[in-house]
Amino acid sequence: MVNPKIAPSMLSSDFANLASEAERMIRCGADWLHMDIMVSHFVPNLTIGAPVIESLRKHTNAYLDCHLMVTNPLDYVEPLGKAGASGFTFHVEVAKDNWSKLVRQIKSRGMTPGVSLKPGTPIEEVFPLVEGENPVELVLVMTVEPGFGGQKFMPEMMDKVRALRKKYPSLNIEVDGGLGPSTIDMAASAGANCIVAGSSVFGAPDPGHVISLMRKSVEDAQKVS
Ligand code: DX5
Ligand code: ZN
Repeated sequence: MVNPKIAPSMLSSDFANLASEAERMIRCGADWLHMDIMVSHFVPNLTIGAPVIESLRKHTNAYLDCHLMVTNPLDYVEPLGKAGASGFTFHVEVAKDNWSKLVRQIKSRGMTPGVSLKPGTPIEEVFPLVEGENPVELVLVMTVEPGFGGQKFMPEMMDKVRALRKKYPSLNIEVDGGLGPSTIDMAASAGANCIVAGSSVFGAPDPGHVISLMRKSVEDAQKVS
């Protein structure tokens, strides 16, 4: 049984008040804080890097689930490790040749390695990373094209989640993009247990309600599976 982890995406928070936004999410019941790291190369957007993680770390003990949308993840392992990142999830599309070294370095810096894949990338590409002798501990299935919050959930990505859950019953499977009250049941019943949600949480009058609703959906789906 894999525990539900609800991870509000801080990309939708008020960046000028990041520390209080983080505290608010934890008070609302968030398990993890999802941090989207973009540097205008892999995706056409620029967000945050290690200095912001370092600043935030001084204000919270929360698990900082970092999603690296960059072409050169290896260059970020040391700075993010020192900054206090908890999870380090890179994209398989940019790590086909060096993922093994990357995973080793992520672990040696005390972070949890994860791999993500874009909607157009076949799920088979992550299997070797889950099965290797130095495996990743999380697979993040993108349910929108990475780059921006507020996009529409792609239900056809649930085939990937189902395939992963069937093959790896105890793997952390994360979904990211367009998750909220109207889409959570699809992701939960497919087998996702880590749920990233930005606009649906931060845009809600009661974020705590949305977080607990998503947690319940994951728990209920696990009971029937
Ligand atoms: C998109 C990011 C997501 C984004 C999700 O590239 O990886 O984490 O913040 O936002 P919503 O939940 O609004 O789709
Ligand atoms: Zn993300």
